[in-house]
Amino acid sequence: MTSADIGLIGLAVMGQNLVLNMDDHGYTVAVYNRTTARTVEFLDGPARGKRVMGTRTVDELVAALKPPRRIMLMVKAGGAVDAIIEQLIPLLDAGDIIIDGGNSYFEDSVRRTRRLGERGLRFIGTGISGGEEGARHGPSIMPGGDPAAWPHVKGILQAIAAKVADGTPCCDWVGPGGAGHYTKMVHNGIEYGDMQVIAEAYHLMRAGLGMSHPEMASTFRRWGDGLLDSYLVDITADILDHTDERGEPTLEAILDAAGQKGTGKWTVIDSLHLGYPMTLVAEAVYARVVSALHDQRIEAAGVLGPGSQPSKATRHGWGDDFVDAIHDALYASKIVSYAQGFMLLGAAGREHGWDLDYGRIAQLWREGCIIRAAFLDDITAAFTRRPGLPSLLLDGFFVDAVRRADPGWRRVVNAAVRAGIPVPAYSSALAFYDAYRSERLPANLVQAQRDYFGAHTYERLDRPRGEFFHTDWTGTGGGATSGSYQA
Ligand code: 6PG
Repeated sequence: MTSADIGLIGLAVMGQNLVLNMDDHGYTVAVYNRTTARTVEFLDGPARGKRVMGTRTVDELVAALKPPRRIMLMVKAGGAVDAIIEQLIPLLDAGDIIIDGGNSYFEDSVRRTRRLGERGLRFIGTGISGGEEGARHGPSIMPGGDPAAWPHVKGILQAIAAKVADGTPCCDWVGPGGAGHYTKMVHNGIEYGDMQVIAEAYHLMRAGLGMSHPEMASTFRRWGDGLLDSYLVDITADILDHTDERGEPTLEAILDAAGQKGTGKWTVIDSLHLGYPMTLVAEAVYARVVSALHDQRIEAAGVLGPGSQPSKATRHGWGDDFVDAIHDALYASKIVSYAQGFMLLGAAGREHGWDLDYGRIAQLWREGCIIRAAFLDDITAAFTRRPGLPSLLLDGFFVDAVRRADPGWRRVVNAAVRAGIPVPAYSSALAFYDAYRSERLPANLVQAQRDYFGAHTYERLDRPRGEFFHTDWTGTGGGATSGSYQA
């Protein structure tokens, strides 16, 4: 039996396409799937005539591999990954490598890196983005885990990855432990945000401006040639153009209750743990949650009345240039979302001791993945100008961009509120932007209230940070204060 370069376990859509992609680049791949019938189907179908070796057991797969063995897992995140790792451990030799390419939770990758490391095995937890098409022809790949494993998988992972215009692969070492899966998690959180800001534009165009589907499609197409040049804007135009067998827009037959698999939610939960704002992504997750309350929404629309509906003639009096204002609201909100995402990556990098290269991460997302966009080059440029940039909103390019978009952004949020059309992402992004650039916020009152009812103490503007004071607000309090700590 010829020895295979790499093994892959899990022949669902992503797994199959990655195998074919590896074959395109000259690698021989041994494959295993729990249900052998699927392996047989794959070998007789898409993998016929390719450098793919089918195996019926995990033992057979391991025996088919060249040392150090490289085994990629493309199984459902969670218990299935641990189960297969436990099966593999006794079969492997020191220095062998397990690569988890699923959407695993980053803490699991930290744990697995450690557990396998203790046994002389090497673990890589890698984000892979781009769906079926990306997996087949070049995904974005975000590997982290045991750095000693990277030289052994770099060649193959970079070969199958998408490439930016100058040929640089959208795959590079992100950092140790859970850094790869963390980066993929933030990618997915941003993906939720990007989808929501586009959905809000569609809602305003359809329910607010009464635009037709071809009009909306051509607007998104035009936007996709400019600042908003991105995969998600492009596919939105395609979706808006699509008609069913009756010639009706396919989109309007789809139930408006969004699903989710959890990565957006994890991003927001971790942002709360780290004390960093991911307000736009949080709103995007909640927008899906609210949409899923479909039956309650129908009842509430009956009881409370729906948001106001425009007559086609008046279109709320929004004016012909309102579409441009929506563009600006979308663009500015997107800037805020990425600013928040990179702030979170920074906080996570510091917390976990990962030495993240933010400009390079933006390039890993430049092609292949779901959030691929020209915009990511501007982000890389900002981090090149100032590698330790605390927030994109402090970079000259984005300062100018957001200032230019400001009037349209406010106009849209204002008009949407008056019309009863929800724009949670645009409005929360605007609230964050206004708070972030406020020298003075009303948190002094919050501190005073905490001190009033619980002697939680406060710091003073006229005293150095770290000195805490308590006021006996009623004249009847005792001298004891509550300890000061951050959650
Ligand atoms: C990608 C995607 C992918 C994700 C889907 C579905 O980068 O290719 O992020 O990993 O699983 O987009 O995610 P939701 O079901 O949570 O929307």
